[in-house]
Amino acid sequence: MVAFVTMTNAADQNPTDYTRLPEMGAGVFTAPLQRPAHVGEDWLEPAQRRYSPAEHAVWDTLYARQLEVLPGRAASAFMAGLERLDLGRGGVPDFARLSEELGALTGWSVAPVPMLIPDHVFFWHLANRRFPAGNFIRGADSLDYIQEPDVFHDVFGHVPMLADPTYADYMQEYGRAGWKAMRHNRLKSLGALYWYTVEFGLIQEADGIRAYGAGILSGPTEAVFAVEAQSPNRIMLNVDRVMRTDYVIDDLQPTYFVIESFDALYHDTVDRDFDRLYRSLPPGFTYANSAVIDVDDVLHRGTQEYLLRGGRGSGAKPV
Ligand SMILES: [Fe+2]
Repeated sequence: MVAFVTMTNAADQNPTDYTRLPEMGAGVFTAPLQRPAHVGEDWLEPAQRRYSPAEHAVWDTLYARQLEVLPGRAASAFMAGLERLDLGRGGVPDFARLSEELGALTGWSVAPVPMLIPDHVFFWHLANRRFPAGNFIRGADSLDYIQEPDVFHDVFGHVPMLADPTYADYMQEYGRAGWKAMRHNRLKSLGALYWYTVEFGLIQEADGIRAYGAGILSGPTEAVFAVEAQSPNRIMLNVDRVMRTDYVIDDLQPTYFVIESFDALYHDTVDRDFDRLYRSLPPGFTYANSAVIDVDDVLHRGTQEYLLRGGRGSGAKPV
């Protein structure tokens, strides 16, 4: 790997030790989470859950459903990762086996956690190339709705991309970037970057736009909507702009941001002076999630028909 200058800390006088769990400073805005009694400060489960046959069958159902919509819509790197890690061999993947195979490719591992974990613990795991994955799986009666990321979202959605060496480096650098965002109390801005890249990112490929974000790839509706629908905006990624942009957590996105390549994503973030950027960012978001602004390089200006008709809950078609 190359030496990183600004997204992390090489310019700082006291280099950060990323192997140690960071302290979340007093006054840093973040979601409060109650740590279950059976996990330690690392929030890792002692072992992966033993899934029942019915739970393994939920994985197989979800897997088969996604494979019907993803070819031609998912990024080539995602499809390649899915195949290399053989996530469709049947049932919820065994994390130990997965970590071994992923470790051989990019040095990442997958570790079970009970639920959403606090930001500083999440950053620490990513900075050490561990991907924390939800241990539980949604029920057969709620295939489309989950309140927290489960093993299907986390492993099917995120892990194939970690087999791509450049993307794997980006994720580690994202974790390291958390230290600086915490110092500046700008976790909200860094969270927007994660949202619009790791969760809902699109990439321009030779054959057209494809999705690489886990939030898109782990559900059938958004996989089609993000890539093909007329409603959402598709705008080239501009890191400064994205970090000022609000997002939707419980419905399809009104705007998606598109990268040229993973190499461009990596350099657009790692080579940026985040100290300077954080000093210029307000604590809240400047732009609404559906806004198109002057500086945007717009690939598709969305009709926002889905949103205007009321979005989820209104019965509006995701067109
Ligand atoms: Fe996710």
